[in-house]
Amino acid sequence: MLVGVGLGPGSPDLLTLRAVEVLKESKRVYVPGKLAYELVKPYRDAIILDFPMIHNKCELERIWEKNARIIGEDARDGIVSFALIGDPNFFSTFTHLKRKIVELYPGIVIDTVPGVSSITAFASRAGVEVDSSFEVSDGSDARSKIVMKVRKPREVVESLKKDGYTEFVLFKNLFMRDEAIYRSDLPDRVGYLSILYAKKGDKP
Ligand SMILES: C[S@@+](CC[C@H](N)C(=O)[O-])C[C@H]1O[C@@H](n2cnc3c(N)ncnc32)[C@H](O)[C@@H]1O
Repeated sequence: MLVGVGLGPGSPDLLTLRAVEVLKESKRVYVPGKLAYELVKPYRDAIILDFPMIHNKCELERIWEKNARIIGEDARDGIVSFALIGDPNFFSTFTHLKRKIVELYPGIVIDTVPGVSSITAFASRAGVEVDSSFEVSDGSDARSKIVMKVRKPREVVESLKKDGYTEFVLFKNLFMRDEAIYRSDLPDRVGYLSILYAKKGDKP
């Protein structure tokens, strides 16, 4: 059995009780990088597999398949976890891994444990409340936008302003030791773990 375990946004005390339990019960835990490794470390050992961020589709397929074979062989008997930041079903390496495992090892049961996603975690750091539609709609007008993988925040902000967005908060490395939150003077460029919250001004 393979379980995709969500580790939350970046601090080991933001794992759920279920996530910790599944990590401890697993015969082996695999992670896609150093950050996930550090989040698992207080609870148990993990094996880092290389999932490089490259654009070459053929090479990516080759790497996903290689890693799927390592994990798939192991997950034929007993519980094996693949643990990653945030939630395993949102913008996650787990999606690619799962696709390959289903293809190569159709008999393996796959499950996931949800984690606190950066998509919601930013709000508690910004002290904002999202109470109208963004992509998840309750039928009200969409007045908030959350932009992930925002490498050039100033460019993104300029384009959002044209769509009526007026308030912006940028988060770098949420819940980590070097966390930074910007409400003005946004940097020109930021690293991979950055997320932008944008809000439209109040209706006249
Ligand atoms: C591949 S996605 C992983 C998303 C993850 N599965 C989740 O649910 O948060 C990576 C993107 O998530 C966002 N992200 C994840 N963790 C973050 C953090 N601690 N601080 C800021 N942004 C984060 C960034 O936008 C980053 O580029």
